[in-house]
Amino acid sequence: MTMKRALIIDDEPDIRELLEITLGRMQITTDAAANIAQAKSHLNCNHYDLCLTDMRLPDGSGLELVEYIQQQHPGLPVAVITAHGSIDTAIESMKAGAFDFISKPVDLATLRRLVNTAIESAQLPPQEPPQTTPIIGHSKAIQDLIRSIQKLARSQAPVYISGESGSGKELVARSIHDLGPRSSKPFIAVNCGAIPRELMESEFFGHKKGSFTGAHQDKTGLFQAAEGGTLFFDEVADLPIDMQVKLLRAIQEKSVRPIGAAEEITTDVRILCATHKNLEKEVAEGRFRQDLFYRLNVIQLAVAPLRDRKEDIPLLTQHLLQKLATEIGLPTPHLSPAAQKRLEEYHFPGNVRELENVLERAFTLCDSDTIEAEDLQLRGSTNSIRPVIEAGQLPGSQTPARNNTVDYPARCAEYPSLDEYLQDVEKEILCSALEQARWNKTLAAKHLGISFRSLRYRLQKLGLEDE
Ligand SMILES: Nc1ncnc2c1ncn2[C@@H]1O[C@H](COP(=O)(O)OP(=O)(O)OP(=O)(O)O)[C@@H](O)[C@H]1O
Ligand SMILES: [Mg+2]
Repeated sequence: MTMKRALIIDDEPDIRELLEITLGRMQITTDAAANIAQAKSHLNCNHYDLCLTDMRLPDGSGLELVEYIQQQHPGLPVAVITAHGSIDTAIESMKAGAFDFISKPVDLATLRRLVNTAIESAQLPPQEPPQTTPIIGHSKAIQDLIRSIQKLARSQAPVYISGESGSGKELVARSIHDLGPRSSKPFIAVNCGAIPRELMESEFFGHKKGSFTGAHQDKTGLFQAAEGGTLFFDEVADLPIDMQVKLLRAIQEKSVRPIGAAEEITTDVRILCATHKNLEKEVAEGRFRQDLFYRLNVIQLAVAPLRDRKEDIPLLTQHLLQKLATEIGLPTPHLSPAAQKRLEEYHFPGNVRELENVLERAFTLCDSDTIEAEDLQLRGSTNSIRPVIEAGQLPGSQTPARNNTVDYPARCAEYPSLDEYLQDVEKEILCSALEQARWNKTLAAKHLGISFRSLRYRLQKLGLEDE
């Protein structure tokens, strides 16, 4: 293995020396510069594997150097050294493309970890072709998403993944982890809405034996379990306020304290998060802390709803059917042209997850190796009822209602009676809500704004549930 080479930029000779000695002990050759001009001339003459720069330099800001490197040496990982407590600068530099930051006074163990991660990320194969991600789709939205993921995978910056239910947020989080330097370490997804409140702190940070009634032995928290890897906070909007404060602290200090422990433990974890809720709105309405949002949302990735990238439906269908068929050892079924058309017309409030469910059900129902339009059971549920669904405020449908172009009388004329048409619409709304709530009726009723009993009554009436 050839010696790695790093460029260190700081105007304080003591810090330069400390960094040079530390990296030297890690078998890394170093060059040092005291200002931006010197740094640029080094960058133009030599090849580097890593660059570490102070933020405040005599002839400008480290940010300028981060931007210069993005332009001139895009593969070179650059980390910034920030003054203690100046998290704003750290965030700004990561937005500009720095892969990580370290704050003063520099903790040597943290520095060594940062350097190792940078070197591993520089060794990743250059720009893998998009086929290597499991994210299917040839729409521009998906291709852009895949490119962003590949770029972001090398960075350590927190990423906030937004998108409707079932649109693929967790898949995106996994891909960021899998394509980055942490891929050999754990990826841990935490559903923030599913952990009982009273257990949350111990789940996140761990506890010491005897620290509270029932703590019979030491417990490792999620931060420690994910050490060196990635923690994905799913449904992050569901975190109670007191946990938001604790999480903020853990992210800021890069350390956690298990309940009952005397000492803090430093952690090295990349943080990703997602929610189908509108987090900006949660902040505006006081349910989510602004400061935590600011730290989680260093980089935002939006996953487009399936209805806005319909051209992906055939490819996704093909992929999902193949997967289903392989699982049960049967030949992959085909879709009749009418079935294909039906799928492309459907609104998919539950996005790719709903497509998966629809196909699985159709696969089970179809008699031959061809799935017919009827097998999809999407009767009356084409685009035309979309405004009805949106008006029903289904979870995850944050898209503002569009032009209401539905000709209800014309749609209704396709049915024997108004009652049957309305029943179909109701059925569709209830099924979508159930699918989005993963068939949890209590949750579905809550999202629909009706009582559990009323939901059951309606399901029974429509023949969707046994008496
Ligand atoms: N572009 C895609 N290519 C292939 N599979 C996909 C794609 N998008 C989503 N999926 C699949 O659809 C399902 C739902 O995706 P995922 O769980 O990532 O969505 P989500 O946005 O996290 O949903 P939820 O809000 O319900 O948690 C998964 O099985 C996932 O593998
Ligand atoms: Mg999810």
